[in-house]
Amino acid sequence: MQLQDLLLSLSVAISTAHAWSPTDSYAPGEITCDADVNLVRNATDLSSDEQEWLKKRDTITESAMKTFLTRATANFSDTSFLDSLFENSSYVPRVGIAASGGGYRAMLSGAGMLAAFDNRTRGANENGLGGLLQATTYLSGLSGGNWMTGTLAWNNWTSVQEIIDSFSDSNTSSIWDITNSIVTPGGNNSTFTSERFASIISDIDDKQEAGFDITLVDVWGRMLSYYFFPSLPNGGAAYTWSTLRDADVFMNAEMPFPISVADGQYPGTSVDSLNSTVFEFNPFEMGSWDPTLNAFTDVKYLGTNVTNGSPIESGKCIAGFDNVGFIIGTSSDILNDITSSYEAVLTYLETEFLSDSTATSDEYTLGIYSPNPFKGTTNIDSNYSTSIVDSDSLYLADGGEDGEVVPFIPLIKKEREIDVVFAFDNDDGSDDWPSGSNLISTYERQFSSQGKSIAFPYVPDLATFSDLGLNERPTFFGCDASNLTDLAYVPPLIVYIPNAQYSYPSNTSTYTLSYSMEERLEMIQNGYEAATRNNLTEDSGFLGCVGCAVIRRKQESLNITLPSECEQCFANYCWNGTLTDVSSVSSSNSSYSNSTTTLSSGAAESTTASSNASNSSSTSSSSAASSSSAAKANAAASVETGKLFSLLTAFGVLFSLM
Ligand SMILES: *[C@@H]1O[C@H](CO)[C@@H](O)[C@H](O)[C@H]1NC(C)=O
Ligand SMILES: *[C@@H]1O[C@H](CO)[C@@H](O)[C@H](O)[C@H]1NC(C)=O
Ligand SMILES: *[C@@H]1O[C@H](CO)[C@@H](O)[C@H](O)[C@H]1NC(C)=O
Ligand SMILES: *[C@@H]1O[C@H](CO)[C@@H](O)[C@H](O)[C@H]1NC(C)=O
Ligand SMILES: *[C@@H]1O[C@H](CO)[C@@H](O)[C@H](O)[C@H]1NC(C)=O
Ligand SMILES: *[C@@H]1O[C@H](CO)[C@@H](O)[C@H](O)[C@H]1NC(C)=O
Ligand SMILES: *[C@@H]1O[C@H](CO)[C@@H](O)[C@H](O)[C@H]1NC(C)=O
Ligand SMILES: *[C@@H]1O[C@H](CO)[C@@H](O)[C@H](O)[C@H]1NC(C)=O
Ligand SMILES: *[C@@H]1O[C@H](CO)[C@@H](O)[C@H](O)[C@H]1NC(C)=O
Ligand SMILES: *[C@@H]1O[C@H](CO)[C@@H](O)[C@H](O)[C@H]1NC(C)=O
Ligand SMILES: *[C@@H]1O[C@H](CO)[C@@H](O)[C@H](O)[C@H]1NC(C)=O
Ligand SMILES: *[C@@H]1O[C@H](CO)[C@@H](O)[C@H](O)[C@H]1NC(C)=O
Repeated sequence: MQLQDLLLSLSVAISTAHAWSPTDSYAPGEITCDADVNLVRNATDLSSDEQEWLKKRDTITESAMKTFLTRATANFSDTSFLDSLFENSSYVPRVGIAASGGGYRAMLSGAGMLAAFDNRTRGANENGLGGLLQATTYLSGLSGGNWMTGTLAWNNWTSVQEIIDSFSDSNTSSIWDITNSIVTPGGNNSTFTSERFASIISDIDDKQEAGFDITLVDVWGRMLSYYFFPSLPNGGAAYTWSTLRDADVFMNAEMPFPISVADGQYPGTSVDSLNSTVFEFNPFEMGSWDPTLNAFTDVKYLGTNVTNGSPIESGKCIAGFDNVGFIIGTSSDILNDITSSYEAVLTYLETEFLSDSTATSDEYTLGIYSPNPFKGTTNIDSNYSTSIVDSDSLYLADGGEDGEVVPFIPLIKKEREIDVVFAFDNDDGSDDWPSGSNLISTYERQFSSQGKSIAFPYVPDLATFSDLGLNERPTFFGCDASNLTDLAYVPPLIVYIPNAQYSYPSNTSTYTLSYSMEERLEMIQNGYEAATRNNLTEDSGFLGCVGCAVIRRKQESLNITLPSECEQCFANYCWNGTLTDVSSVSSSNSSYSNSTTTLSSGAAESTTASSNASNSSSTSSSSAASSSSAAKANAAASVETGKLFSLLTAFGVLFSLM
């Protein structure tokens, strides 16, 4: 055997053993791939990998759904509808869950909400919605919500209960130990902080030396990873997104299909829900269904220099670019937002970090995916901009940059055939409580040219959300398919679950970067209570009503008689089309028309709400305190690491200003 062959077989063996980055570091590395491989496909349908996976998942969710619905409707006078529903496996309702952004607030509150659906949570089968997560097919997350979903999925589908059980004052290696802020990971121990930072900088250096562009998002992702993957060497520096394909729990479809959302955003531009290109990352692919891309690429080979999907150098691909922290960091890239609000930080970055560079600060605050995996692809619909495929680099930002802070887009795609989407809204509207603005953003998008292939139920304007308290308790949208026939197709029913105060004031600032163990537990418990109407004490029938929402679309399309209990549930929980602010409406029945008067007033208010929130002075004292020790740690090691350290200082400055 030639030495070369021996090495090759060795490296194959290693990569199948744990399929991480081929360099076993943060740097991507070269691997061989088929000479005729094409990494890009037209976004006409679900990938064949996803379709194969769904077959396995459907079998599992079918029996879990039967268990859940049987429990949820145990009090119903007539449960014969269950027989009709389980007569044929294609009748079984398909469920998606979408977890919004909102920093650690969204991660923790969202974790509590998800725990309420998980039969592995103590109590969830008695006072919660336990078992519904086991019957769920898709789980999307964005920004802080994606910190939650990504942590669970890429830790072998651990549970919130298991994470909580590992919390302790002394255990500093537990998942989500965010007692110390990311800018002072060592707390008072500045040696620890400088070692951590030095390690991050060396990772970033590795990637740069391997010939790849880096930005602040690489640093951000590395910093965050230690809190999500504490059990992995070096905070998961070599851990890749596509590794999930080799995890038993995913291969056997024993968990939902995780999706992370980010927005395409070029330096110097801004996006809103009407013109953004929404990207999804799933375990097989990344790309966009939107007409301005209409393509997906194999996520495992990001970083490969391609034209129209074919590697420029035949047989040579890159792997290891799809670092888990980098993708999670991209989805939560709020840096761009922060810096544009704070001139001082902008100036600081420019003078300290970018002084000898021609790049604008904007270019350093977006995630860079270069070489562009979609360079030269030809799937874009005619009459749409080709700017994404023409560019040498693809830039991605926080999935909430376009106002769609609940990651609905992947779940409302017709091809995914989802019947009900549970929307966890931990976004910040007024006083850091949700306003409903993100539902309005996605609703409006369907009437733009970018949204031509999506449908979303009618929702009211912001004033109605607040007047009727729809943003304070669970509310169902799109209860009657017969009212949605004007839309591109009948969208899923939306069960909206907003963050609200039960046992804890969970409207903490998005920029609070540290929580004590007690605070974490309280945030999680409050989220659980918000999702269960206070552990079913506010309405003992709520579990049954969730069952009604789950079966609704299939009950309608199969002409199954609606259980009488569901009629009462829908009267209680469905938004029935009422608007309270009649002056903003152009005609009396416009709640069901495409009236742009109502809609644009909603959008304008939502912009105001979010800019108020980001200017709010709710600073966590811990994050302010952190930055001075970060600066100290910086000074200690700045000699060797130079410029990259000033970058970390910039983070400290950035967050102390929040
Ligand atoms: C949770 O649900 C799954 C699927 O129905 C089932 O196999 C498992 O036994 C349940 N676990 C608990 C603790 O109820
Ligand atoms: C609600 O249930 C959860 C999970 O069982 C529990 O941790 C929490 O203490 C309960 N809340 C109240 C107010 O009883
Ligand atoms: C997942 O489980 C496998 C097999 O037990 C283990 O080798 C791996 O380290 C686990 N991954 C994480 C992130 O915990
Ligand atoms: C500080 O952190 C360093 C590096 O992790 C560790 O070796 C040292 O024991 C820590 N010091 C204290 C006082 O905990
Ligand atoms: C998207 O629309 C907003 C609002 O009209 C505009 O400010 C922005 O420049 C547009 N962005 C792009 C990329 O077209
Ligand atoms: C990718 O290939 C093109 C065409 O050969 C070349 O111009 C470009 O420099 C390459 N990019 C990188 C990052 O290697
Ligand atoms: C991509 O799919 C669309 C829709 O099916 C089709 O119109 C278009 O021609 C396809 N493009 C390519 C390059 O195959
Ligand atoms: C069934 O009814 C009892 C008594 O009203 C109530 O306590 C219980 O929560 C109900 N169960 C469900 C699943 O609705
Ligand atoms: C349900 O009823 C409608 C109208 O009566 C009919 O068009 C449709 O085919 C029926 N669907 C099924 C599955 O029986
Ligand atoms: C559906 O539309 C009808 C007629 O406009 C209205 O009476 C009903 O309340 C609507 N239902 C829902 C759930 O929106
Ligand atoms: C619709 O909801 C509003 C507000 O909750 C209520 O006042 C009104 O009576 C409801 N209308 C119908 C037809 O149920
Ligand atoms: C809503 O807009 C769609 C797409 O522009 C159009 O086809 C439909 O007729 C409109 N519906 C109403 C009620 O105006």
